Amino acid sequence: MAQRIMVLHGPNLNLLGKREPHIYGEITLQSINTQLEAKAEEMDLELEIHQSNHEGVLVDFIQEAPARCAAILINPAALTHYSIALFDALKAADLPAVEIHLSNIYRREEFRQKSVVSPAVNGVISGLGSQGYLLGLEALASLLK
Ligand code: DQA
Repeated sequence: MAQRIMVLHGPNLNLLGKREPHIYGEITLQSINTQLEAKAEEMDLELEIHQSNHEGVLVDFIQEAPARCAAILINPAALTHYSIALFDALKAADLPAVEIHLSNIYRREEFRQKSVVSPAVNGVISGLGSQGYLLGLEALASLLK
């Protein structure tokens, strides 16, 4: 049976395409998800994809993940920089996890240069645009082998 990966998109990522395109590009969240689904099929993985603007909803999904998913691919968006709740949920889930950022957070404002989530994940991909999600999925596939 194909292994399932939970893909989580945090606050404001539903606005991709029209949100600060000079930073995040013109790609929509729907297109990113379509690319991820195609890549997952090639790799014989299943995806469960969610976007939420609400920290607690994302915490709920992470808590549910171990019951039905083998790994987590997450762009915590702004929550990256302050959500101890997401950090704690990822630690508790104890699944392979990769953190994604479309932009290079280390090249941006000082408040974005710190991720409180990173110590709870296996790796981070930041600054490679939507390609980062596909690379993150590949990384999870190899972590699951
Ligand atoms: C982001 C970077 C965050 O600082 C920002 O709040 C986002 C998106 C990225 O994908 O580059 O919403 O996670």
